[in-house]
Amino acid sequence: MKRTKIKELLVTEARGQTITVNGWVRTFRNNQFISLNDGSTIQNLQAVVALNSVDEGTLKRITTGACLSVTGELVPSPAKGQTVEVKVSALEIVGDSDPEKYPLQPKKHSLEFLREIAHLRGRTNTLSAVMRVRHAMAFAVHKFFNDKGFFYIHTPVITGSDAEGAGAMFRVTTLDLNNPPKDEQGNIDYKEDFFGRETNLTVSGQLEGETYALALGDIYTFGPTFRAENSNTTRHLAEFWMIEPEMAFYDLEDNMALAQEFLQYLGKYALENCADDLQFLDKRAQDEEATKPQDQRSELGLIDRLKFITENDFQRLSYTEAIDILKNSNPNKKKKFQYLVDKWGVDLQSEHERYLVEKHFKKPVILYNYPAAIKAFYMKQNNETENKTVRAMDVLFPGIGEIIGGSQREENYDKLLSRVQELGLPEKELWWYLELRKFGSAPHSGFGLGFERLIQFVTGMTNIRDVIPFPRFPGNAEF
Ligand code: 4AD
Ligand code: MG
Repeated sequence: MKRTKIKELLVTEARGQTITVNGWVRTFRNNQFISLNDGSTIQNLQAVVALNSVDEGTLKRITTGACLSVTGELVPSPAKGQTVEVKVSALEIVGDSDPEKYPLQPKKHSLEFLREIAHLRGRTNTLSAVMRVRHAMAFAVHKFFNDKGFFYIHTPVITGSDAEGAGAMFRVTTLDLNNPPKDEQGNIDYKEDFFGRETNLTVSGQLEGETYALALGDIYTFGPTFRAENSNTTRHLAEFWMIEPEMAFYDLEDNMALAQEFLQYLGKYALENCADDLQFLDKRAQDEEATKPQDQRSELGLIDRLKFITENDFQRLSYTEAIDILKNSNPNKKKKFQYLVDKWGVDLQSEHERYLVEKHFKKPVILYNYPAAIKAFYMKQNNETENKTVRAMDVLFPGIGEIIGGSQREENYDKLLSRVQELGLPEKELWWYLELRKFGSAPHSGFGLGFERLIQFVTGMTNIRDVIPFPRFPGNAEF
């Protein structure tokens, strides 16, 4: 079937040429005007059925949701808001849709309802716009790194290591759960398992990524990651995509600079390449904002927010400085924070991060030099004797909170080993990671960008479950 995409037709000069469009009916008015969408753009194409050009039986089957193939002349449109339309000369019903049963009626549906019909929600304006933006951002990620000479490395999805030391992993096994083999002590004998050891779905490709940074120089990963945390929030998924660049000869400063450049590039790319979809999403977000109480509305609209981050430097702030600001802040003094900030060393909650970003600085913040005790084992240790810190950095965004987490890595063998031992991590399993520090070790740094959090920021969607086609979260693996 030869067809032209609607996106292409909208920028084609209408000279009465014959074209074929395939798509899904959004609405059909007056037995004459079909609004057709083929997913290539947020815009619908109007197809005009002339009187008696289509038989009665076929006309009845032009219903919301039906798939059609329409052939006709492309002509300038007299109607407002569209430049071209099709004068139908032939029409084929490719797939019927029973209007009594089709769940997507031409009216506003709640995002919660749409999640229950995730197999069809891609046909709505909102979800289709989000997914086109998501595609553009994935493409831009590769373009950014490719243009900079970074190499895309595919790290394993099934691993034996726990990169974050957080322990929230999904087990991968082929053992019979009803009757697993046991060793002499009565414990499950994973030597009998498929890989001859315990394995999990990866929580991060970082550790494997580091090995290639110390071979190819600058690399990045971009793949699915899995966390079995029981976090039922608007910012957590059990399966999410992460981009993890890792660079040899980068210190923390270089790392922060790259993170800012990367996010600003992605923001600009969206503004330049997703204008139609962003305009729609901006309007959608504004309508949603209008339902919130005045003091919870954000000051900038979606597009202005995107422009703002692309044009302004992010605020760099050490953890210690942040604690001072938070201690002396109004919500802390007036006990408005749920978790009061009373001493150096506490982990920051999202209410604190949001205060710094949205109220105090009113711009993205890069927090760095965190207490060692609240960060991962692999981060480079600073040289203080008291209040020990590591060269960690988190990029905090308005409305999102942490969008990037990263650090300079500990490249010193002895220091890394003592940290592994201190924390009681499985030294034996980390042999290869430690060995990397024995042979030609070098300073290196990297970070992880949560792809869905980026998409939330760029599309203004408040729930992370609406920026991935089939979200995975506690209690849900439908579809
Ligand atoms: O801060 P995280 O846990 O860092 C790492 O995994 C490091 N290995 C990254 C690195 O240095 N190479 O995760 C990185 C980012 C977070 O900032 C957040 O944007 C996102 O991944 N993220 C999640 N996104 C959705 N759902 C979850 N459950 C997430 N957990 C982390
Ligand atoms: Mg983090």
